[in-house]
Amino acid sequence: MTEREKELHQRAYTEVKKHQERVNADPYRQSFHLMPPAGLLNDPNGWIQWKGVYHLFYQWNPFACAHGAKFWGHFSSADMVKWKEEPVALAPSEWFEKNGCYSGSAVDQDGELALIYTGNVKDEEGNRESYQCMATSSDGVTFEKKGPVIDELPAGYTAHFRDPKVWKHNGSWYLVIGAQTTDEQGQALLYKSGDLKNWTFEGPIAGSHIGGLEEFGFMWECPDLFHLDGKDVLVVSPQGLEQESIYYQNTYQAGYFIGEMDYETPAFHHGDFFELDKGFEFYAPQTAVDDKGRRILTAWMGVPEQDEEYHPTIEHGWIHCLTVPRQLSVKGSTVIQQPVEELKELREKHVEHKKAEIGPEPVQLENVSGKSVELSINGLEGIEGIFETIFRGEARLVYNKEERLLTLERKNMKTRLTEQRHARVENLRDLQIYMDASSLEVFINGGETVMTSRFFPEDDDESILLKSSEKTSFTVEKWNLQAIN
Ligand code: FRU
Repeated sequence: MTEREKELHQRAYTEVKKHQERVNADPYRQSFHLMPPAGLLNDPNGWIQWKGVYHLFYQWNPFACAHGAKFWGHFSSADMVKWKEEPVALAPSEWFEKNGCYSGSAVDQDGELALIYTGNVKDEEGNRESYQCMATSSDGVTFEKKGPVIDELPAGYTAHFRDPKVWKHNGSWYLVIGAQTTDEQGQALLYKSGDLKNWTFEGPIAGSHIGGLEEFGFMWECPDLFHLDGKDVLVVSPQGLEQESIYYQNTYQAGYFIGEMDYETPAFHHGDFFELDKGFEFYAPQTAVDDKGRRILTAWMGVPEQDEEYHPTIEHGWIHCLTVPRQLSVKGSTVIQQPVEELKELREKHVEHKKAEIGPEPVQLENVSGKSVELSINGLEGIEGIFETIFRGEARLVYNKEERLLTLERKNMKTRLTEQRHARVENLRDLQIYMDASSLEVFINGGETVMTSRFFPEDDDESILLKSSEKTSFTVEKWNLQAIN
């Protein structure tokens, strides 16, 4: 490690220590979600199972609850149940990354853990440069920087060029990277390499003005291309889609195209874009395959430029968290997300109400309450009218059977007025809800639809209330979930 790196790592640890008490005293600190020890977290990075251990890095500004020159923070886990905080992986110590070690990915290269990430550089006038850089490690904890491996922009693109995701296909390395054309359109570009160091530009594979897509955002962030259940899937976070009724309700979206990758042309032939999540906070997801062959996704539970400065946790010196790890599968034209089964190991104190009778008066079922819980509601096929769950008096999940509409409602962080996000759900059958101290992840109909959001309830309200405009009955199960560290 260079002296400059040592100094930056030390400054980060000192900053964390300084805020530790304040951070830990926050009732909104999560119990089973990964959070920064202090400061701001955004994208998950370098997500990989390497030599049997899961490594999950993240975009981190240790010095403020705002975006800035990002570090890579690092967590590891043997089982995705218990997680350990590792030393800082990357700090923006070098000229080619001086304004941030931005997002990237991890691969194993001959037994070494290689990180490929974006070095963000800005001059005094705010002009950007972007370098795709490599760092390697033999122990998975300390990284040695190898410098830029792509140091030029392809012709026709701006310096909004970042977030390389690397994988191996037919013996070659490939990466997709998020890009912006000089006429400000978002695209995903493909590069190829034999050794991770020398890369050739193969061409754009998807984006605005490609393969029948019209204008589709001014920038594509965090692309991720993978093969799953006989299909190729491109996950991407496009910026600049206009809201259309219940679609694209957040400042920026994250979603996917299902299709077929042609590595020769190259081109990604695909269908429509679908959002991965219909809640308030979900962005920049990244996936990895583990040794059981599962494709597992995790995402930032946040959205850029969306009320970030109004999060109540800022008072306590930290902001944002990651989602739980979710296993992906493809069913028809839908990517299904399900919490990884390991999360069952966090369960304790099982409560079950078979055929619970629910009517227009809100009911608190016995022992169905808490702060960090999993709630499973089955047998909802028979409900009529309007069915509602109220979480700690602060958020409501409302299904309107007639309108086939599921609505998540909470109070806006800035105005404290009610705000809503909607999802079309043809026939509600089941809900699996992961509620933590300040978040809700709602998996609908086995993960066909997901709604992810932060929420900030009163500390002493642990209620979960159920009601239904028409008398009905269904099964409710609840577990308390243990902490992951
Ligand atoms: C997405 C993003 C990436 C970038 C990183 C910077 O949230 O803007 O495009 O690499 O965050 O922290």
